Amino acid sequence: MEIDSANCKYRVSECQDIEQLSVDYPIKCDQEIDCLETLVQELHRVFSKNHVNIQEVQKLMSAYKSDPKQWRKFAKFDRFRYTRNLVDAGNGAFNIMILCWGPGHASAIHDHADSHCFMKLLSGGLDEVRYDWPNNVEPEVVKKMKNKTNRRTSSETEAELADSVTDLDISGENDRCQSSCQSQNEHEEDEERGYDAQSMKEIGRTRLEVNDVCYINDAQGLHRMENPSHVDGAVSLHLYCPPFDSCRVFDSRTGKSSEVKVTFWSMYGKKIKKVIEADPLDDQE
Ligand code: SIN
Repeated sequence: MEIDSANCKYRVSECQDIEQLSVDYPIKCDQEIDCLETLVQELHRVFSKNHVNIQEVQKLMSAYKSDPKQWRKFAKFDRFRYTRNLVDAGNGAFNIMILCWGPGHASAIHDHADSHCFMKLLSGGLDEVRYDWPNNVEPEVVKKMKNKTNRRTSSETEAELADSVTDLDISGENDRCQSSCQSQNEHEEDEERGYDAQSMKEIGRTRLEVNDVCYINDAQGLHRMENPSHVDGAVSLHLYCPPFDSCRVFDSRTGKSSEVKVTFWSMYGKKIKKVIEADPLDDQE
């Protein structure tokens, strides 16, 4: 199905119909792309237009069949953390990069700075774990989406909603459990700042296999990636549009967030000389 409003040339909050920003599975693609360079060229062609449908990007990413010979020069591993290796800067419209995950490496829970994130597994295995936004920091797109869903639900199935009201958690039970882990003082300070500690709620977990592609944006929640293997590395291909150089990371136990800069380990196959002290998106827990 063609979705006119799901234009990933623009930020998620600027898209007219954010409900349309999801991808139907399984993705059917009638094309096969056998070369990484061709994929990048195709992406340039698509992103030179004013309207770029998210499904079009998803299909191109799916159409490429991973061949290590083609991406090996970008795949630079580090012993201690996953690395981000820029493949192409997409003429400013997108960034495409290869991420290398050593055994057990994982990213921190993060948002996508109002951009669209497409991800394809090139080698090994990765788990994508999704989380709900903590209530107090939900961006406008999430509120807008929830309002739309609520409005639709109430007009379409009023009776059903009346029944389900009893199922809604209005007890604040979650908040109470979490707050008992904090000292009263800390809790009061956080309350003054409008921050209510709560551990991050996992809402989904998907094991990606080689050539699988997934998509996420802030309206759908937060995520982190984990390499579940204690022995093997994993390599993934990520496309972000529009590109971003900072995003928010979240503490899995408290939900506390902070803004971090994202950096590259290598660009166009060449290692960055500057010593990067620590990658803030890396999960070192
Ligand atoms: C991810 O976990 O999706 C990778 C984040 C990144 O771009 O560094």
